[in-house]
Amino acid sequence: MLITGDMKMADVIHLNHHLLHMINRFGIQLGFGDRTVNEVCQHYDVHADFFLQLVNTFHDPSYFPLNELQNFPPGVLVDYLHKTHQFYLEVKIPEIEELIAQLETLSGIDIDHIKLLEDFFRQYKQELTSHINKEEQRVYPYVKALENALFTQNPDMSNCDNCREYSIQQYEDDHDDVESKLFDLKNIIIKYMPAPKDSRMFNIILHELFELEKDLNNHGHIEDLILVPMVERMEKEINQLRAGNTVM
Ligand SMILES: [Fe+2]
Ligand SMILES: [Fe+2]
Repeated sequence: MLITGDMKMADVIHLNHHLLHMINRFGIQLGFGDRTVNEVCQHYDVHADFFLQLVNTFHDPSYFPLNELQNFPPGVLVDYLHKTHQFYLEVKIPEIEELIAQLETLSGIDIDHIKLLEDFFRQYKQELTSHINKEEQRVYPYVKALENALFTQNPDMSNCDNCREYSIQQYEDDHDDVESKLFDLKNIIIKYMPAPKDSRMFNIILHELFELEKDLNNHGHIEDLILVPMVERMEKEINQLRAGNTVM
């Protein structure tokens, strides 16, 4: 069952509470009353169609409307991806770090194994941060410069320092998957840690890792399947504009 604009936002949460993080990412906070999705989006000045398509890709993994998503304004998509990065680095990673650190306060768990988890997660955080920084510093400014060049019909992008000699093909070739290492981390906890007296704290950490993995997977799909083709199309349009300007 897909989520529609006339559903009450409160019912959406009752239907799938895993959507809460994604909904907050749009700046939408709790306290919906009986307002519908469309009414809440309007209240928060959120593009309702874009919101619905994205929420549904998360709600139903078999739903991924390529054409619809590729036709939203690039700036709207990049803004969403940027907010998702902020959520990972400023909220989710510190929360998981804190949970792993709390293991040290439990009795009966070997400290060397906890240090191993901490080191693994520290390395993971570094990898994720450098992956995100590359996108924030190189790719997203390029997309915005392309969007602006097409809007103004001026193909000169020389004022974008990071755009020279760049094409989205480079991103496509280098874009690595940041979830597979989380799978390894989950396995260390599930299979290789000595059995704790009480698994509750590990269960909480595992739950967080599964949620983060799912979120990153959705994020990566949007980058690979929506952002890349969208930018390839824009690059073609810019080249046509440049060719047209040369002929004139
Ligand atoms: Fe990203
Ligand atoms: Fe990425």
